[in-house]
Amino acid sequence: MGPKKPVDLEPTVLVKSLHVGFAGREVLHNLNAKFNRGWLAVVLGRSGSGKTTFLRALNRLNECFPRSATRGSLKLKLQGEWRDIYRNAMPLPELRRRVGMVFQTPHLLPGSIADNLALPVKLVLGVPRRNIASRVEWALEEAHLWDEVKDRLNAPAHTLSGGQQQRLCLARLLALEPEILLLDEPTASLDFRAALKVEELLLSLKERYTIIAVSHSLSQARRLADEALIFRDGSVVQRLSREDLQAPDTLQALLEEIF
Ligand SMILES: Nc1ncnc2c1ncn2[C@@H]1O[C@H](COP(=O)(O)OP(=O)(O)O)[C@@H](O)[C@H]1O
Ligand SMILES: [Mg+2]
Repeated sequence: MGPKKPVDLEPTVLVKSLHVGFAGREVLHNLNAKFNRGWLAVVLGRSGSGKTTFLRALNRLNECFPRSATRGSLKLKLQGEWRDIYRNAMPLPELRRRVGMVFQTPHLLPGSIADNLALPVKLVLGVPRRNIASRVEWALEEAHLWDEVKDRLNAPAHTLSGGQQQRLCLARLLALEPEILLLDEPTASLDFRAALKVEELLLSLKERYTIIAVSHSLSQARRLADEALIFRDGSVVQRLSREDLQAPDTLQALLEEIF
């Protein structure tokens, strides 16, 4: 018998023949991939191999850059319904809320810890004032931050440590009810202990969300990934299962390939 398969994997992202270019230069070439809810996929590859561009293709963020061009089909299952996001236009703010992204360094809003959550919840979701505090608490719990900040919700957010700031960014994302989480090297700016806390959080979220995380670290990929996609020069050149990632000879080959 092979390894036990998780039972409740639901496909949520289907990428077919995706090409992305900037100013006439193609940087993602004919990319195909599939992701599931309940499954944590890690993207690895050298700097410049197209990892960030790939994540940005999933919520149409590449379009923020002038002269970007995207071809191919990208289907996402959102609210139970398949949508071809480059054809069946869904309003971009709605798409980007459902397919949320966290970046390498924390991007905070000015203001307090509570403001960082209350403002988007009020402005984006239109949550009435009386329900905001409970939504803020829920999001902080969801991001494993509540116990650390509950006594100082009105302190400036920039007084948090780097790891707490990154979890606050995750809390803000989660507060907006996303279904797909795109994480671009979310622990690259953190020390090891802070990174482990974020990893723990991701593992606790993965059953309920589709998570695609770019990682700068092979050991992190081994701790987190149900599957790893290896990018080289804008293409996926290898897919590795969790078992593959643990095998010592795969590891050696990967180290040579990526680093
Ligand atoms: N906004 C942009 N405008 C022009 N070129 C870009 C832009 N974003 C990325 N690129 C180019 O696309 C390639 C892939 O970049 P990126 O996706 O950032 O790689 P990675 O995240 O793997 O380091 C690089 O050659 C980069 O210069
Ligand atoms: Mg990048």
